Amino acid sequence: MTETLPRGCELVELRVIGDERGSLVAIEAGREAPFDIARAYYLIETRADVVRGLHAHKTLRQLAVAVSGACTMILDDGRRREEIRLERPSQGLLMGPMVWREMRDFTADCVLLVLADSAYDERDYIRDYEVFRRALEATA
Ligand code: TYD
Repeated sequence: MTETLPRGCELVELRVIGDERGSLVAIEAGREAPFDIARAYYLIETRADVVRGLHAHKTLRQLAVAVSGACTMILDDGRRREEIRLERPSQGLLMGPMVWREMRDFTADCVLLVLADSAYDERDYIRDYEVFRRALEATA
């Protein structure tokens, strides 16, 4: 666990398997992704001036990788707020539940791949920061 990251979040180094043809990065459930992968999605063509995310998940675990380009992930567990620049396809960011996240400063070529442990479910989202803070206080 990286000490400075918010609760349940961790940067993982993904092995790059390279040879004379190029490189390959593999992500397996139970290995690089410490959960069963139920869903993959990717953010593409994100405008440079937008902020995405702006939510927390009640239970969802995810692994994000900027497989092309770069973006900044802001993670906030109510105690710490950290900015991480995702800018290498060998750098995975694990994110656990009850962490507020915001994404910004996408490069034009950014492809942000996200692997998740559950299917999309809007009921798992907290989209209001004050509601998020109150939910944290209620469980403290
Ligand atoms: P949204 O939650 O606004 O994305 P972000 O938090 O990354 O800014 O999602 C945009 C739309 O895409 C919204 O209508 C929900 C839909 N969506 C899915 O259908 N499946 C998914 O897996 C995700 C992440 C979003």
